[in-house]
Amino acid sequence: MISQATIERILEAAPIEAVIGEYVTLKRRGANYVACCPFHNEKTPSFSVSPSKGIFKCFGCGKAGNVIRFVMEHDQLTYVEALRFLGNKYNIPVEEKEESPGEAESRLRRDSMLVVNAYARDFYTRYLWEEASGRNAGLSYLRERGFTEQIIREFQLGYAPDAKSAFTQSALAAGYKEELLTSTGLTIHYEARDNRPEALTDRYQDRVMFPIHSISGRVIGFGGRTLRSDKQLSKYINSPESEIYNKSRSLYGIFFAKQQISKLQKCYLVEGYTDVLSLFQAGIRNVVSSSGTSLTSEQIRLIKRFTQRVTVLYDGDDAGIRASIRGIDMLLEEGLQVKVVRFPAGEDPDSFARSRSARETTDFLENNETDFIHFKISLMADEMKDPLKRSALIREVVDSIAIVPDAITRTVYIEECSRHLDIEEVILTREVARIRKKRAAAPPHTPVTSPPTADEVAVPEKEMSPKYEDLSRCEQGILYYLIKFGQTLMNDITVSDFIYNALEEDELEFRDPLYAKILREYRGISGDDTVRRRYFINHPEPAVSQHIVNLMNNPHHLNLKVLRDSLPLEESLLKENVTKSILVYKSKIVSIACTDLTKELQQAQLSGEEDKIQQIMKELMVMMEVRNSFARELKRLN
Ligand code: CTP
Ligand code: MN
Repeated sequence: MISQATIERILEAAPIEAVIGEYVTLKRRGANYVACCPFHNEKTPSFSVSPSKGIFKCFGCGKAGNVIRFVMEHDQLTYVEALRFLGNKYNIPVEEKEESPGEAESRLRRDSMLVVNAYARDFYTRYLWEEASGRNAGLSYLRERGFTEQIIREFQLGYAPDAKSAFTQSALAAGYKEELLTSTGLTIHYEARDNRPEALTDRYQDRVMFPIHSISGRVIGFGGRTLRSDKQLSKYINSPESEIYNKSRSLYGIFFAKQQISKLQKCYLVEGYTDVLSLFQAGIRNVVSSSGTSLTSEQIRLIKRFTQRVTVLYDGDDAGIRASIRGIDMLLEEGLQVKVVRFPAGEDPDSFARSRSARETTDFLENNETDFIHFKISLMADEMKDPLKRSALIREVVDSIAIVPDAITRTVYIEECSRHLDIEEVILTREVARIRKKRAAAPPHTPVTSPPTADEVAVPEKEMSPKYEDLSRCEQGILYYLIKFGQTLMNDITVSDFIYNALEEDELEFRDPLYAKILREYRGISGDDTVRRRYFINHPEPAVSQHIVNLMNNPHHLNLKVLRDSLPLEESLLKENVTKSILVYKSKIVSIACTDLTKELQQAQLSGEEDKIQQIMKELMVMMEVRNSFARELKRLN
């Protein structure tokens, strides 16, 4: 952990306008600066920097935060990386966190492995460019495939010589320990066997080398492609798993692509190393590869750090496609918006991009992007004619839709599906709801097979309803007062205590998880309003800090008449406003409860359950009474 004191020192030393001014051209406008936003494309500046508040905000794309956030966003660094970057720049020593001897040891070991990999990368690139064998075998192979010198250098491709242990000998002579060479997988240690003596051999021989970079650009592994067409040899040899290389957690190309993925808010996903290279060469730089394996949830989460939108590029041949459909479901499950592009038969992104102009490739991607429903349906166009297979297909599509976490997205997909398969929306909605309900009850991924029963049909779709949006706006309103005036006294109680008492009185918790979290965390910190506000503005979690910055800057989105920053605050006015925001919130909750009860009542009346009707009526009367008293109270305040 980097201490709060260090963070404060960095924030003091790094003026936001100076740091941002190195990335974009800032123009002074009054007390602030403006510029064209570096996070989205625009012609008129809507990006603003406030030196006094220490924050930036783009009114176009909504990105906002402090200087640390800016560096994180712009350079795609983690919180800690951004702090180190700024610390370095402004000469503030950033302490390593207190680590146990064990932790220190494994960090050192990982570092040493990375150093060995960097040595290997340099060894292989030197061979490719400078040694005759490298130029003749490796470089000419890459050139024949159409890769430019620029892309070969950018991706640090290399060549492993056709020799038993050229690399190993060189590394040992340079002082690298055998243990590090074997643990990184660069060298293989053969025990003595039969008549063969013990030996150290290079894992990669006569291969073109693709370094695999971590998200921060360090070499964590290699893929080596053979130059020979001998079918006995495996086409690629990859680094074994180790402390620094975890295949299921890495994506080839992520270091080079992350900035563009974030800027364009879209990530292309391909299968192979060469697909990434060829697309990059065609100017498409928001692309990563899962390196031939089926996608893992860790890889998806890696993408999700930069965008919610993924477009999967599939080869033209059918064989791979069916298998990789599972990948689509994984993406859907993680809440990503998934599109698919299918290449013409016999082509993959690499061959396609290589044989066409950059423009044609870009156009092809743009014009052939379909959502996954289209894709599934088009895959099975033939089977669709067979009524039996048709129902299985529908089932499959509906299954995928049911995985999508967000209700609105599900609705959109259902509409799509209804149009394409010519099935009524209500039927699909019901079916999706049924599957979701089953899934919620069953352990994850349990297939659902039994037919629906009557009571499974209607599932309340909470997150979809606009009524909850109102509620969330009320929660924001309360948070606004908490963060802005929490420690201010109204009569004899602080605003924060007033809010906590008011909520606890009715055992209310915020429904929005982010707001609930802020509410909880606020209690755990100390200091006056400015200190606490700074804590949240500089919060390590982007969602929190962004939300607070927005909240402080846009009080007008609150549905209440709110106070301007500059106005001297009258105690009585503050009290009135806070009280009102709580009242509005509570009455919203009560009226939601009333609506729900009314629906239940209708259901009960339909099915003629007398006891239940009586019960609900009673509850409803109480709720309506409460609602009216809130309404009277609010009227009095207005
Ligand atoms: N792969 C692998 N080992 C293999 C074959 C493939 O690790 N024996 C991985 C590699 O990451 C490869 C990806 O799967 O990039 C896709 O495989 P493939 O399409 O066969 O390779 P390409 O990358 O297209 O390579 P090339 O164009 O040189 O054939
Ligand atoms: Mn290929």
